[in-house]
Amino acid sequence: MRKIGILTSGGDAPGMNAAIRAAVRSALYYDMQIVGIERGYEGLIDGTFRDMDLASVGDILHRGGTVLKTARSERFMTEEGQNTAIRNLKNAGIEGLICCGGDGTFRGALDLEKKGVAVIGIPATIDNDMGYTDYTIGFDTAVNTVLDAISMIRDTSSSHERTTIIEVMGRECGDIALYAGLTGGADAILIPELEFSLGELADKLVKGMERGKNHSVIIKAEGVDIGTKELQQKLSEMTALDIRTVTLAYLQRGGAPSASDRMLATLTANTAAKCFYNDISGVAVGRTNGNIVTTPLKDAVGIKREANLAMLPLIDMLSR
Ligand code: F6P
Repeated sequence: MRKIGILTSGGDAPGMNAAIRAAVRSALYYDMQIVGIERGYEGLIDGTFRDMDLASVGDILHRGGTVLKTARSERFMTEEGQNTAIRNLKNAGIEGLICCGGDGTFRGALDLEKKGVAVIGIPATIDNDMGYTDYTIGFDTAVNTVLDAISMIRDTSSSHERTTIIEVMGRECGDIALYAGLTGGADAILIPELEFSLGELADKLVKGMERGKNHSVIIKAEGVDIGTKELQQKLSEMTALDIRTVTLAYLQRGGAPSASDRMLATLTANTAAKCFYNDISGVAVGRTNGNIVTTPLKDAVGIKREANLAMLPLIDMLSR
């Protein structure tokens, strides 16, 4: 291929810039031109393209967010939007497109592939909800951000002898809650993949305090089917404990990417550029058992991550 494009789409994730940098510099190394598409599939429809050179990705490796901007595109869900996007790609002479984002981004890429566009997916979302890869770009940084927050919240919770419910992101996948909860020493973790008993939770909190704990931390993923405020109210009534809530929200999507996210971004983006150079497309790049591998895009789309429920008994065992 002589000319490829790259876009970032969906929720931003720390490490997207590292992926853009690696894709651009790898493509140029392989003597291909590379174009950056702004605001994901929106920019594909609007034709907001810019030529990328070595300097255009200088000083971005360590920055959160995405210099190409991102969006969730309603227009791209329509036949008309997709046809306009394909016309724009053809007019610009772009022969292959790297799509960096989560499952929604990959679905968009698959739509393009079905219409004859050569595409490659790179997994980037803090949620870690893509089952075809061990990890997604941004997840590790988000977990570390939550860990920092837990440490700070512990200081005040323990001073005031309070229980704090920390709501983290994850609509359908509880991985941020699981990983941050286990490594942050949470007393309970609530995830969308598993129902929990309010009575047992209340009991556990009270028994902990009776044993001499002076504060407790509950990590709750946003997708759990009880609102955080409602949970606070119910637990307060059931236990008479002083319970506060913190919603970390977009804080988890910002910040400098961790070494692990930069590594995953760099290796997957380099592989994507190398695939196009070798005329390979229609794949999603990911990491399986530590190795960077490609999976047919159609097989990667829609594969949900199985929650690692084996972690939950550990929480009970260790948070005493
Ligand atoms: O990027 C994934 C995610 O962070 C989810 O966990 C969250 O529910 C969602 O994005 C919120 O995204 P936005 O408000 O930007 O649409």
